[in-house]
Amino acid sequence: MTDSSIAKARLGTDGPEVGVQGLGCMGMSFAYGPTDAEEARATLERALELGVTLYDTADAYGRGDNERFLAPFFAAHRDEVVIATKFALSIPPDDPTKRIVRNDAPYIRQCVEASLQRLDVDVIDLYYMHRRDVNVPIEETVGVMADLVREGKVKQLGLSEVTAGELRAAQTVHPIAAVQSEWSLFSRDIEASVVPAVRELGVTLVPYSPLGRGFLTGSFANAEKDLTADDVRRQHPRFTGDNAAANAALLESIRAVAKAHDASVGQVALAWVHQQAATWGLPVVPIPGTRRRTRVEENVAATRIELTETDLATLEPIAAKVAGTRYPDMTFASAGRE
Ligand SMILES: NC(=O)c1ccc[n+]([C@@H]2O[C@H](COP(=O)([O-])OP(=O)(O)OC[C@H]3O[C@@H](n4cnc5c(N)ncnc54)[C@H](OP(=O)(O)O)[C@@H]3O)[C@@H](O)[C@H]2O)c1
Repeated sequence: MTDSSIAKARLGTDGPEVGVQGLGCMGMSFAYGPTDAEEARATLERALELGVTLYDTADAYGRGDNERFLAPFFAAHRDEVVIATKFALSIPPDDPTKRIVRNDAPYIRQCVEASLQRLDVDVIDLYYMHRRDVNVPIEETVGVMADLVREGKVKQLGLSEVTAGELRAAQTVHPIAAVQSEWSLFSRDIEASVVPAVRELGVTLVPYSPLGRGFLTGSFANAEKDLTADDVRRQHPRFTGDNAAANAALLESIRAVAKAHDASVGQVALAWVHQQAATWGLPVVPIPGTRRRTRVEENVAATRIELTETDLATLEPIAAKVAGTRYPDMTFASAGRE
């Protein structure tokens, strides 16, 4: 049974209502080092009990492993959950660290069938284009995605890391329910044009990495020293060397705000996303990722924290001081193509 005390938000103008915080499932089997699968499964169940209903995965998270891992949970709760997955990042067989971005029709059709099979469902609730292949007109890509809706394979469409221009062009072809982009106290570049476009078009924003990939919780301070060799965060410029030290120092002002609310640093980071969205007048469903029950409880509790004007003023300067870009290659993100 879900606990209805968590607030709700609508996906797009006519989509389902979901808990106002979703769950990022990527780390449960991919990217962030070793995982305790049993605890991850218990985390999924706990999240649902707390009113979390939007679950985020992608075909690229471990070449389908993440979708396969989630399938039994979805089967047990199909009517209670909203399943979001993605296509576009093809992993070459000879190099698992590489990503080839593909948005062409044959590839999309192949991906949707594979995701449906791995997830063991008849329909995907929210299907995202994970990354933009600039060689394919976005109208063409969204045209294929719209066909999937008409064919009953997909219910709603989403786009991840698109520019405002790309979103506007896509919306002329088919309604876009959600844009998924990185948004946090450390990553605010989407406020320049994506956020205003999302608001204008009535699209729901699904901020990913709202905890700055864990850095904003203080759980690691230097990826090379604190994280295992297989953790992708070791490739992120913000989390290594001098950048990491400079960025860790930025957590001090968040700690001060957290202390005043008897909250954790991560909870303030999550509360900031909600309040910033309210300031912009946006529907928002952040998807913090965790594979531990205690952390999902902590993160859901953050939806009930209200930051004051003074808190917001304290937090405002942080993003501009962050050292290092949010991806090693910024063309991989919307801001790199604006
Ligand atoms: N569209 C895209 O391109 C894109 C890119 C990246 C991510 N995503 C999606 O967004 C989701 C969230 O992003 P993310 O996982 O990169 O980053 P995030 O949510 O900012 O942070 C996740 C990290 O924070 C840790 N964490 C979570 N809650 C915590 C707490 N209360 N205290 C201490 N540590 C905590 C997690 O560790 P544990 O898991 O060990 O608890 C994990 O290492 C992903 O799961 C994925 O579904 C999408």
